[in-house]
Amino acid sequence: MTDIANILSGAVGDIFEGLGLDRKLGQVRRADRPDLADFQCNGAMAAAKAAKRNPREIAGEVAPKIEALELVESVDVAGPGFLNITVSAAALEGRTTEILADGKAGGGSVETPRNVMIDFGGWNVAKPMHIGHLRSTIIGDSLQRLFRFLGDDVTSDVHLGDWGLQMGLLIVGVSEEQPDLPYFDDNFEGEYPEESPVSMDDLERLYPLYAGKMKAENTVETIEDGKTVYKKVPNPEYREDVRALAQTATAELQAGRRGYRALWKQFCAVTQIGLERECGDLGVQFDLWKGESDANVLLPEIVEDLKSRKVAVESDGAWVIYVERESDKKDMPPFMLLNSQGAVGYHATDMGTILDRKRTNKPDLTLYVVDARQALHFEQVFRAAEIAGYEKEASLEHIGFGTMNGKDGKPFKTREGGVLKLHDFIQQAKDKARERLEETGMGADFSAEERADIADKVALAAIKFADLSNVRTKNYVFDLDQFVAFEGKTGPYLLYAAVRVKSLMRRAKEEGIVAGAMKIELKEERVLALQLDAFEGALKLAYANRTPHGICDHVYNLAQAFSSFWTNAPILKAGVPDDVKASRLALAQATLKQLETGLSLIGIETPERM
Ligand code: ARG
Repeated sequence: MTDIANILSGAVGDIFEGLGLDRKLGQVRRADRPDLADFQCNGAMAAAKAAKRNPREIAGEVAPKIEALELVESVDVAGPGFLNITVSAAALEGRTTEILADGKAGGGSVETPRNVMIDFGGWNVAKPMHIGHLRSTIIGDSLQRLFRFLGDDVTSDVHLGDWGLQMGLLIVGVSEEQPDLPYFDDNFEGEYPEESPVSMDDLERLYPLYAGKMKAENTVETIEDGKTVYKKVPNPEYREDVRALAQTATAELQAGRRGYRALWKQFCAVTQIGLERECGDLGVQFDLWKGESDANVLLPEIVEDLKSRKVAVESDGAWVIYVERESDKKDMPPFMLLNSQGAVGYHATDMGTILDRKRTNKPDLTLYVVDARQALHFEQVFRAAEIAGYEKEASLEHIGFGTMNGKDGKPFKTREGGVLKLHDFIQQAKDKARERLEETGMGADFSAEERADIADKVALAAIKFADLSNVRTKNYVFDLDQFVAFEGKTGPYLLYAAVRVKSLMRRAKEEGIVAGAMKIELKEERVLALQLDAFEGALKLAYANRTPHGICDHVYNLAQAFSSFWTNAPILKAGVPDDVKASRLALAQATLKQLETGLSLIGIETPERM
């Protein structure tokens, strides 16, 4: 089962081939001008060039053969040789009937499923989970849903940042605040307490506190002569010893000091519990909760291997892999395996992770959904992995994304200018959604519990749709008021559209209307049927380019097509013949099915009513 464009492409390809032309030129796609036709084929022009013939003549030869196809109503030759194809009502009736019966609502499947690893989330233990990781989580989740839906075998990995200097810093912090804990006693031989000595709140307080102590100077923003200037001033919190203490603690932790390991495990466990709660709230699930530390166990082996094969070479006391190429237009520094202090860092960790995944999950493709500002890092790592022979560069992809900015055009912050925590951000959206629902009077007579559930769904729909409907690589401005609105191209508008169809279904049921054979007669019915047919193409494109905004566009266009259909093709109105009611109800059912399927691929759940 596939969409009409695909079926037509096959049939028109046959026609081209029958005339001694390249069958690939018979490719048919949705019309650029839906007012003129449903589909178009532009192959006559290229075919004419290849055969040194007149394109209109070729189009004229092909057209009647296309018109003779069962699916086709009429074909026009336009301009230099465009073939404009209008399909028959029967073709649309057949296709919509298929979509209604299909478990995937006409979404299709990939031809050859692959084993795909998606690395997203990427929060760091202790460092507050801030808004910057939100985009990774939302986009990564949408991609995992889409890839899985189309048939790939997907494994998602949160890849926690659990192994850097921040760990040593926290150990120092805890050891200074609670020096009597057994973790710091070298003579302690018993079991460490089961309960964590620190909470998530402690970690979120300690990290910035101790990170602050490492900074000798602060940058302050002042206005001089009407201009903003940045000045460095001494930091009163600064302590000269903290960095060295943190470095030592980190090295000891990595070397396996027993108490530090036990304490670190608590940091990770506490963070994971917090994150899992946050993810549950967002409706996001990860298959693996691995971290940078999991890669680190492989690093001694990797260092040894790369040194002995002379893949890594010594440079100023560091060990590096040169990754630059003739064709590089930008500066391409080497991949850093070990720095001049002999320590491993972010490059090496990612290399370890690649090898770990190669041995455990054996992915055909790995997607890294990470801020676009890390593009150079991934370029270096992917090239180095190929040079090392660990993984094909082509199977590793950085799925970069732009920054989410506040209305001032700067990265989104709290009103006080601090880093906004994910939890607080979601709460703000929920409060706003509740406010908006109250204003509109929606759900006024529902129970408090149901109203709260609806507000939560509206808030998440607003956040996710706003994020995903933007072109992934671009920065965008987050405007909560605009995104929580029920009008415009927003998540709440789509929820409302889906709920309207659900309520229509309930009323039709009450009136004893039963869905029946599809009959596409009105223009609005045609438009809706063609939109339903476009789902598969939209998903394939979003899949190929890793761009969930294509799904957003599709569900929005579908909701719009349904809205005109609803206005012009009444179902519940007296006087509408029974068979027409039955057909329209079936179309509405197919729409709801596809709308909910499409929304689920962008992680949006619809309430029953609102
Ligand atoms: N923890 C990193 C950060 O906050 C992101 C990790 C991304 N994934 C990766 N395999 N490097 O920037």
